[in-house]
Amino acid sequence: MGKFMLLLLLGAFTLVFFQAQATVCMVCKSFKRGHCLVGKSNCTTKYGPGCRTRNFFIFSKTGRWVHNHTELDCSNACLAENMYYGSLKISTFCCKGEDFCNRYIGQVVNKDFH
Ligand SMILES: *[C@@H]1O[C@H](CO)[C@@H](O)[C@H](O)[C@H]1NC(C)=O
Ligand SMILES: *[C@@H]1O[C@H](CO)[C@@H](O)[C@H](O)[C@H]1NC(C)=O
Repeated sequence: MGKFMLLLLLGAFTLVFFQAQATVCMVCKSFKRGHCLVGKSNCTTKYGPGCRTRNFFIFSKTGRWVHNHTELDCSNACLAENMYYGSLKISTFCCKGEDFCNRYIGQVVNKDFH
């Protein structure tokens, strides 16, 4: 009986632990200056830094990378990196541990580039 109770307790702790690991991320197709303009939703990521922020920049005629828009979603294989596709640059950031953490990264970067 004692062993059974211990197992039950252990199971409950495991459940709480895994729930604490899950992070709710903001989903948005077009996020600008801290607001979602298109496709606002949310998703949940359980493993790794799965809340993703992708900042899209376009190389302007004046020779600067200009922020175009930000996309927010979940990705279990999120990699922080800069990708270049001709005159398009996509800066990816990943986070976890705080619900909607990916929205703050979108905000900070927007501030820096406006
Ligand atoms: C996530 O989105 C659903 C609808 O898609 C909504 O009902 C729910 O309240 C949202 N969750 C949070 C934590 O905002
Ligand atoms: C730039 O943002 C607009 C929406 O504001 C979008 O329609 C367009 O596809 C974006 N361009 C690129 C290259 O992502």
